[in-house]
Amino acid sequence: MMLAGAQIVDESSVAYTSGKSGNTETSAAMPPEQGSSREAQSVDWNPASAQGLHMVPKVDPVDIHFSNITCTVKLGINKGSKQILHGVNGRLRPRQLIAIMGPSGAGKSTLLDVLSGYRITGVGGAVFINGRGRIMKRFKRMSCYIQQDDRLQGLLTVGENMALAADLKLPTKLDKYEKGEVIEDILTNLGLYEHMNTRGAQLSGGQRKRLSIALELINNPLIIGLDSSSCTQVVQLCQTLAHQGRTIICTVHQPSASLFALFDQVYVLAAGRCMYQGTTKNLVPYLQQAGIPCPKYHNPADYIIELSCGEYGQDKIDLMANKSENGKALDWFDDHQSIPSMEGLRKLVPLSVLRDTEPTGGDEETIPNEMSILSKEHFNRWYSLGSYYISITIVDLPISIVGCAVFSVIVYTMSSQPLEIARFSMFFAISLYTVLVAQSFGLMIGAVFSVVEHS
Ligand SMILES: Nc1ncnc2c1ncn2[C@@H]1O[C@H](COP(=O)(O)OP(=O)(O)O)[C@@H](O)[C@H]1O
Ligand SMILES: [Mg+2]
Repeated sequence: MMLAGAQIVDESSVAYTSGKSGNTETSAAMPPEQGSSREAQSVDWNPASAQGLHMVPKVDPVDIHFSNITCTVKLGINKGSKQILHGVNGRLRPRQLIAIMGPSGAGKSTLLDVLSGYRITGVGGAVFINGRGRIMKRFKRMSCYIQQDDRLQGLLTVGENMALAADLKLPTKLDKYEKGEVIEDILTNLGLYEHMNTRGAQLSGGQRKRLSIALELINNPLIIGLDSSSCTQVVQLCQTLAHQGRTIICTVHQPSASLFALFDQVYVLAAGRCMYQGTTKNLVPYLQQAGIPCPKYHNPADYIIELSCGEYGQDKIDLMANKSENGKALDWFDDHQSIPSMEGLRKLVPLSVLRDTEPTGGDEETIPNEMSILSKEHFNRWYSLGSYYISITIVDLPISIVGCAVFSVIVYTMSSQPLEIARFSMFFAISLYTVLVAQSFGLMIGAVFSVVEHS
């Protein structure tokens, strides 16, 4: 497969051109990413260098408001249903790095699924963007969602993955050099430039997460949802990206004190209810006021998770849910009186402004080979399902034709059919149709039953 962007970044031109990220002196200060031994070789990257990212969003940042969000899942036939989110509310302020925290099973991923629009069945409540009801089509153009498991094309290198994404997402009027510039800018800032020729499957955990972010940064989203990020480098990078004008929402399980301090805003969930919403710094005064002060020398992030787990009693959970009014209270934001109301927001961003400021997406086409990658890429608007289906059918067509021709010749001659070209053509055409229909059925069954492929 020829990838336009990859041609200009061939191996000779990217062979470890050190200094590209321009921050080798500060490298020693960076903590290595958690749980990745391979990352140790590449600690020469400092997330602070991401400040050089040229693609700052051209439109005003967005203010997200959600109200009375519920989510119910069916557990199976005759097993009833389970409510995961219990009418939570919240306000996600622009230019902020926001952490959704809580014990395992609290509903963090579910809330992010709902906010990103990835989960729609069994969901109640409303999400507002800049004071107006969310229009999914417009929202998807300005947002992206990076799930807990990194869904990457493992056989493609970092450069190839980026080139493929650039071809799909950037407008076709950009030539390969302009696309290459965007790729170079992002990879340099995310510390992946030196790994341009490393295959996706060989990257460390932190690098994979960064590549997932890099792929989505190509069309410069305003809102980024990131599920389960616990390594310092990724969170530092998100902080820089957020302060450039994006709204970034990360779910974190149990952050260390230093990681916790990187977030601007925290949203704590416990058993589908909101325990606290406000700035990171106000968490300790909040607990103090609630009558459950954080013990001295205790990480406030650990303490609130312990409280949310019910270690200090169910009454504390109810107390916090009431105090935060299940996310309605805005008292713990800095300068909470000046937070604009929904009406105020609508006045700030008149409808007519939206007409000219919608970020544009690219053309839609491609050939991924895994259902999870397909659902991620389709959800993040890389291409339409129709284009995906047509491309995989076209790619399969030569093999189908050859296979079908061999089969038809053998069967036709061995069954002593009349050797007439018209008859043979009809036989061949019917066989080919059968092959195509069978393939479609295969895809349909694979999609419905989520067949797991072992490699
Ligand atoms: N489709 C589903 N069917 C049944 N239970 C689910 C489903 N999705 C999530 N859950 C349950 O809802 C709870 C919250 O899940 P999740 O949002 O993934 O939690 P977190 O990300 O906070 O660990 C968990 O107990 C999980 O088992
Ligand atoms: Mg989760």
